[in-house]
Amino acid sequence: PVGVLTLYICVHYNRSSVIQLPHILIIGVRKGGTRALIEMLSLHSSVAAAQNEVHFFDWESHFQRGLPWYLSQMPYAFPDQLTVEKTPAYFTSSKVPKRIHQMNPDIKLLLILRDPTERVLSDYTQVFYNRLQKHKRYQPIESVLVKDGEINLGYKALNRSLYYVHMQNWLQYFPLESIHIVDGDELIRDPLPEMKKVERFLKLEPQINASNFYFNKTKGFYCLRDHGRERCLHDSKGRAHPHVAPAILQKLYQFFHEPNKKFFELVGRTFNWK
Ligand code: A3P
Repeated sequence: PVGVLTLYICVHYNRSSVIQLPHILIIGVRKGGTRALIEMLSLHSSVAAAQNEVHFFDWESHFQRGLPWYLSQMPYAFPDQLTVEKTPAYFTSSKVPKRIHQMNPDIKLLLILRDPTERVLSDYTQVFYNRLQKHKRYQPIESVLVKDGEINLGYKALNRSLYYVHMQNWLQYFPLESIHIVDGDELIRDPLPEMKKVERFLKLEPQINASNFYFNKTKGFYCLRDHGRERCLHDSKGRAHPHVAPAILQKLYQFFHEPNKKFFELVGRTFNWK
């Protein structure tokens, strides 16, 4: 049980600091806007967020260390705060939902999704820059997307955008009411309404407001204002995507058309994806 593993650390200002297993998990999706979401959620005074992606439930070497190790990865918090961790790879890892359910069947799950095609391009861009940094060779986008004139089904990033496949797996363990889906495209366009919905889902006192966000023209994205301190997300967030020939883009949109429909039926909600 969660309570048993709560560590009481120290006492200051008459409030004890504790380390708690997460009450909230941001489970993905990779490149959906998970960093933006956890940073924006941290604006709320009742939330304490883990800084790093812990990869507890998806990496065997971490999972074998057990819950005490997982707990040790969590941030100091006040007892009335909710702890949140984000590991975007959880969403697409098939063994993860069962493991999280075993830890806490009542945990609140946040899933941030973005247009599946846009997500693939973002995924490619991330790998491209990682390889560039390591002086490794990279393939042009069109040669990974297309094989013999057709969409290359072997490209892993495509699978990560088949949201219904992964969602089916989660719904075997968690009811839909436990999973709040954040519209990642909307979070980019206008973060406040999406964050108000997150607050409501988490039953947090309404606190995040318009003054917490300002649009940075140079970055082309909203940045955060926290107690007067202004900050944008790291340069690796909000990068330009490669140009893709319109005919290939069209193929991608078609490829995702049916899977998207299946996803909308599964969650009883539609999204404005191309
Ligand atoms: P791109 O860099 O492809 O545009 P994640 O944190 O899950 O890796 O997601 C990264 C994506 O978050 C970025 O993808 C970007 O589009 C999106 N994002 C959402 N809100 C943002 C913000 N306020 N600032 C920067 N990026 C943001």
